[in-house]
Amino acid sequence: MFKNIKCNSLSASNVDSSVLLAGWVHRRRDHGQLIFIDLRDDSGLVQIVVDPDKSPESYKLASDIRNEWVIQISGIVKIRPEGTRNTQLQTGDIEIETTELKILNEATTPPFPVNDNSEIDDYLKLRFRPIYLRRQKMASNLKLRHKIVKFIRDFLSAKEFLEIETPLLIKSTPEGARDYLVPSRVYPGSFFALPQSPQQLKQILMVAGIEKYFQIARCFRDEDLRADRQPEFTQLDLEMSFVEQEDILNLTEELITELVNSIDPSKKLITPFPRFTYEDAMEKYGTDKPDLRYGIELINVTEILENVEFDIITKTIKDNGVIKGIVAPKCGTYTRRQLDNLQDIARTQGAVAGVMTIVLGSDECELEKLKPEDIKSPLSKHLSFEIIKKLAKEMNAKGGDLILLIADNNEKTNNALGILRQHIASANNLADGNLLAMAFITDFPLLDWDETNKRWTSSHHPFTAPKYQDLELLDSNPGKVMSEAYDLVCNNYELGSGSIRIHQRKLQEKILSILGYNQDEIVDRFGHLLESLESGAPPHGGIAPGIDRIVMVLAGEDNLREVIAFPKTQNSSDPLFGSPSEIDPVQLEELGLTIKNQK
Ligand code: AMO
Repeated sequence: MFKNIKCNSLSASNVDSSVLLAGWVHRRRDHGQLIFIDLRDDSGLVQIVVDPDKSPESYKLASDIRNEWVIQISGIVKIRPEGTRNTQLQTGDIEIETTELKILNEATTPPFPVNDNSEIDDYLKLRFRPIYLRRQKMASNLKLRHKIVKFIRDFLSAKEFLEIETPLLIKSTPEGARDYLVPSRVYPGSFFALPQSPQQLKQILMVAGIEKYFQIARCFRDEDLRADRQPEFTQLDLEMSFVEQEDILNLTEELITELVNSIDPSKKLITPFPRFTYEDAMEKYGTDKPDLRYGIELINVTEILENVEFDIITKTIKDNGVIKGIVAPKCGTYTRRQLDNLQDIARTQGAVAGVMTIVLGSDECELEKLKPEDIKSPLSKHLSFEIIKKLAKEMNAKGGDLILLIADNNEKTNNALGILRQHIASANNLADGNLLAMAFITDFPLLDWDETNKRWTSSHHPFTAPKYQDLELLDSNPGKVMSEAYDLVCNNYELGSGSIRIHQRKLQEKILSILGYNQDEIVDRFGHLLESLESGAPPHGGIAPGIDRIVMVLAGEDNLREVIAFPKTQNSSDPLFGSPSEIDPVQLEELGLTIKNQK
């Protein structure tokens, strides 16, 4: 070994012992008489002192070394002189007096500093990934990820789950995105699809008699990317036989609670995890992944305003729309520009009439103390002071608050207010940074109507079971059928999603035909699953929390790229390897492929 101890494990208890260390030059300071090096390894930092009187050879070498060179140090642990201790550093009480320094490798000048947290262009973070991963934040995010995955494996193993790998070269398994395809050499013109998730495989494992399965599973989806979406990501995929929704939710809650408590006790949870039906979540928060770290619920005030003579309001009521609002606490001081910004947000979210604002004075006070002259609103000509007070009371607003109202159809109103709610919270720092506000969302509709293609689509995936009591609506009113699907959400992210599955061939075929597959397509694309279902499939269900997203919320990051070792860019490319890349004409020939529109 090049070393016999790690930098960060040294302390005053090692004083006067000889050590052999190896790592990277984190920082080098030349004080003329002495050269100081912060030596970094995967545990942390320790200060090295190179004194020309103690080791002239080492001093000569140390004069030339630069940041990120790889070196080995033989030395003796010493207590730092009084007044030079560094309380910021775990090893700040000691330093290493060098007896021999060896250069193991030189390094080119890094494209950005490793030893600070300065902002870096996103492209550079990926192009020079190994350098970026050396930064302390990234190293600790990768350690956190390891700990999370290890905890999950231990937790589920103790509950007698089996970890089973499933293939990456399979047939398309629809989760709503495009597939990544792999051409077959042996069967020219035929393709494997990389799994969007192991959904059908885990169901087939249930048929195979595995009653508790899990996998840390890689999934591939060719879809538009966002900060919380990568084309290649990892799920904790799990499935159980002979269970109901309640069993999966309880297991998930226990796992997440113990995981958070064990990995980062400084993080707070609300337990038991609150539960909302999909409809409740949409009505109260305007989204099915609400951020519950703050209140600001959407309140329906249509009734209070129904006799108000104001264009947008009368038109909305005539069109069977709704008027709903939120209270932005202590935002009565918002400037013209801030109010205009809220308009822009509402309009870009599809509420074309914008948002109606009512300022309840600029100073905080009880509602009763509010005077008519305190109110500022483009609506004030149309709303009496009494109505405004009634509205404020209904919405639980106080003096100094700002009321935001939207009048439109229910969907657009909820959506725009949901976004405004998030904006107000983040602009005013309303979310407790240590709170992971987990919740379950249940009772999703089974199907969504796709107006463009005039067909039904699954709101989860085609294998989700309809609620038993809604089965008879499948023919008469498919849009009203509820499903046995559920999501785990946290701080405005969907962390996981799952359902009880259809375990009977007949019902599965029926759902596939409602989704628009004809009998031939059903057999061709899902024959393997249908055959399994009729061969003795137990009732089963599961869930798949996204590992990347769990690590992201626990690390306090807001982009998945900060918790994945080798992520892709926003355009699904990898600047480090330069992929995707063209392939050799010989390979194309072997695969029986020709490229039509080569750029
Ligand atoms: P779903 O498609 O909802 O369900 O995915 C489950 C969870 O996987 C994570 N996730 C992603 N993470 C990063 N990048 C992406 N592109 C991405 N897409 C999804 C999210 C999401 O909640 N087979 C079903 C699960 C089941 O029914 O058991 C499925 O894949 O955290």
